[in-house]
Amino acid sequence: MNRTFVICKPDAVERGYVGRILDRFEQKGLKIVAAELRLLDEATLAKHYAEHVEKPFYPDLVAFMSRSPAMLCVLEGPEDTYAVVRTLMGSTNPVDAPPGTIRGDYGTILTENLVHGSDSNESAAREISIFFPELAS
Ligand code: RTP
Ligand code: MG
Repeated sequence: MNRTFVICKPDAVERGYVGRILDRFEQKGLKIVAAELRLLDEATLAKHYAEHVEKPFYPDLVAFMSRSPAMLCVLEGPEDTYAVVRTLMGSTNPVDAPPGTIRGDYGTILTENLVHGSDSNESAAREISIFFPELAS
């Protein structure tokens, strides 16, 4: 089995969309193997979003991601589960994400796009080791 890392971002928790989001992953056939509601701090987010720390949008991203608790999950499924999750999420900007995807159905704001999913198997392993070190392989 193959695992990936997902965050239901603070907007999803605030708006009451966590159940609907996780339901989509479960309906697809993915299994939740870890889940925890956690308030993320700046240092942890800098590790998680290391590729974005120097980007102009990073201050807004970290303010958003640390403003209230997020639901952190590890999902298990077939080979390249990260790609299954990314397909269900839809493109980064919810305005461009097609109907039927999480971002396409539930959002309109680029920063507040409801959900994070690892973008490769390597990212999944790196992110799981940050947030759920007890599951790291
Ligand atoms: P994520 O990492 O959260 O799963 O999202 P992603 O791969 O689809 O997009 P990525 O390029 O990694 O961007 C990370 C998150 O930063 C926010 N963002 N804001 N204002 C902007 O130009 C901008 N660009 C990205 C979004 O919350 C995005 O999901
Ligand atoms: Mg990303």
